[in-house]
Amino acid sequence: MTPSARLVAFRCLQRIDHEGAYANLVVNAELQRSKLSERDRKFVTELVYGTTRMRRACDALVDRFVATEPSPEVRTVLRLGAYQLHYAGVAPHAAVGETVELAPKRARGFVNAVLRRVSSADIAWPSEAVRLSYPDWIVERLVTELGHDDAMASLAAMNEAPTVTEREDGYIQDLGSQWVAAAVPAVEGELVLDVCAAPGGKATAIAATGAVVVAADLQPQRVGLIAANVVNTRQRAVLPVVADGTLPPFAAESFHHVLIDAPCSGLGTLRRRADARWRITPADVTELVALQQHLIDASAPLVRPGGTLVYSVCTLLADESVHHRVPDDFEVIVDRPAGEWRPLGVGWRVLPHDAGTDGMIVVRYRKRS
Ligand SMILES: C[S@@+](CC[C@H](N)C(=O)[O-])C[C@H]1O[C@@H](n2cnc3c(N)ncnc32)[C@H](O)[C@@H]1O
Repeated sequence: MTPSARLVAFRCLQRIDHEGAYANLVVNAELQRSKLSERDRKFVTELVYGTTRMRRACDALVDRFVATEPSPEVRTVLRLGAYQLHYAGVAPHAAVGETVELAPKRARGFVNAVLRRVSSADIAWPSEAVRLSYPDWIVERLVTELGHDDAMASLAAMNEAPTVTEREDGYIQDLGSQWVAAAVPAVEGELVLDVCAAPGGKATAIAATGAVVVAADLQPQRVGLIAANVVNTRQRAVLPVVADGTLPPFAAESFHHVLIDAPCSGLGTLRRRADARWRITPADVTELVALQQHLIDASAPLVRPGGTLVYSVCTLLADESVHHRVPDDFEVIVDRPAGEWRPLGVGWRVLPHDAGTDGMIVVRYRKRS
């Protein structure tokens, strides 16, 4: 018998909640094994990603009616039920009745009682972080960086499912990422280095200008993704290479433009990775800041005099972007790039709620001739 959509969602959530599995990998694997209809697949995806994003808020919804911590599997059932009741617009009789069935027999009366109360009681949220379902540190950090209103709007926008934008060549790429690629002022016949290029979204976009793009990445299997995307987009002027951007195997001053689309905390793309907010820590940010500076130090010498260095990240934090140092022979390019960018120090930032894109930061420098 085909397992129901809720059962598939529950299995995914168990692995994400209690085994540290990655949401996207688990959902893809479980959906592949299942024989669910297209409609049910969408439902499973929404339930798993939504319940994972809203985990903290779902816990607050149920914890008012729970005296002692339930077993891990019952905790997951309660989260899934609360999500359906409070966020997914599922009718209470279905949300409660069918979710109760997922619990072990001995706990069904308890789950039923808690979910019924969740469905009928209003909640007074203890904090914005709980209401919006983020760790405290992320909310605090964004409020410091963006001010209260933009932080709340950004956080709320990243609780929505991401939009899908397709380029002319068929590649699916967020508009914010397209704006970053367009901020590299390459023209036909120029040589561009994309230091952190996998899976090749920006490299293939830049190659559409007629420039030749050396698309490097540290991870061999991810360079394989670049190669596949070169074939899919037919952007043959992209040359995938395995290379460490902190020790680049290229001669000094060999590129007209160098793009560093650096590894970052991803705090601008949390809508895309439902579990990321629960993984990333302030210590990770500190480590990433050091790696990013290292990538800039190693890549800057590769830019020709008169050429450009473009640095980008899909986070919202100034520490991961505009606070980095560049050598003295670089000057900031001050004109506004195309897209919904707001000024941020020496660079530009897109907030997730401004145009329904991922959040991004870009900084552009020119090397003096
Ligand atoms: C933000 S992603 C790049 C996305 C890509 N530019 C695109 O638009 O499709 C960052 C990439 O940096 C790579 N990376 C991490 N450390 C690196 C290093 N030391 N040298 C080169 N690439 C690195 C990661 O493997 C990852 O693919």
